[in-house]
Amino acid sequence: MKTARVYRGTSHGKVILIGEHSVVYYQPAIAMPLGEARVNAQLIPREDTSVYVDCEYFCGELSQAPQSLHNIAVLIERLRCDCDIQSQGFNLRIDSTIPHERGMGSSAAVAVAVIRVIAQFAHRKLSQKEEFDYTQVAENIAHINASGMDSATVASDAAVWFKRGEGLETLTFETPGVLVVADTGVTGATRKAVADVRALYESADGDISFRTSERIERLGELTRECAQSLQESNVVALGNSMNEAHKILSALTVSSEELDNLITVACEAGALGAKLTGGGRGGCMIALAENTSSAHDIQVAVEKAGAVRTWRLPLISREVRND
Ligand code: PMV
Repeated sequence: MKTARVYRGTSHGKVILIGEHSVVYYQPAIAMPLGEARVNAQLIPREDTSVYVDCEYFCGELSQAPQSLHNIAVLIERLRCDCDIQSQGFNLRIDSTIPHERGMGSSAAVAVAVIRVIAQFAHRKLSQKEEFDYTQVAENIAHINASGMDSATVASDAAVWFKRGEGLETLTFETPGVLVVADTGVTGATRKAVADVRALYESADGDISFRTSERIERLGELTRECAQSLQESNVVALGNSMNEAHKILSALTVSSEELDNLITVACEAGALGAKLTGGGRGGCMIALAENTSSAHDIQVAVEKAGAVRTWRLPLISREVRND
């Protein structure tokens, strides 16, 4: 009996070091891959033309998928059409260890893994730009005003410097610092948070809109300072920039009690700086530890304070060659 070939596509989560929200307003942001949180997509061809999906939210024919999978359904149909494989059905299984709606790029990572596995099935080699554009097809449905940062970073194996409209640059650095990523266990609210910052930015009250644009600009400056601190391995300066960024994000109303609590606990446990990461209003925070032993102390402290999960991410980014 002939066994069907199995196709696989993978991607990983991401952590925004700095620049969330301000990136929507064309300021730069820095994000890092979080290799420990992954998506695996597996495709097995079918003898008929149907597409079946098996994932955490749904198991069944794609045309019956719930609204929460609308972005992935649209993406799959678009890829089938563009790759001219509408007459070839398949079973697609998606497994993810990236927590949802925690600012770790879960939806974009699922899209990237799906794009990679379908491209492989269709014998198409997509450029980085094509892969990004397809990911944005799904992300623009899942989020309002998606800057594209998630789409770019979950597909990169190195840290990235991202500016909306300009795409990304790879950043390389090797500092002794370690980031502790901690999940509050509370669902984030990126869509609402982005809309609320927009309302402040466009407020009819001139003072509010002026202050908001000043804050956004300062977040951009802090991002530039962080890039410099990473190059110079200056973890103390990096921690200070993170602290200031968190204060500004709080003023933009995108923090939460749970995030603030974990941030305070991390700083008391020795973090050089800490801030929310991603859209905010829940989701994850990051704390900068001087070394692995301090990272361990911070992990223990935040877990005791209610973090449902923590990850450790060394501040090392190397150029990855794909040839
Ligand atoms: O929650 P996340 O990781 O998807 O964060 C999105 C980052 C924002 O700057 C808040 C929005 C965006 O589209 O860039």
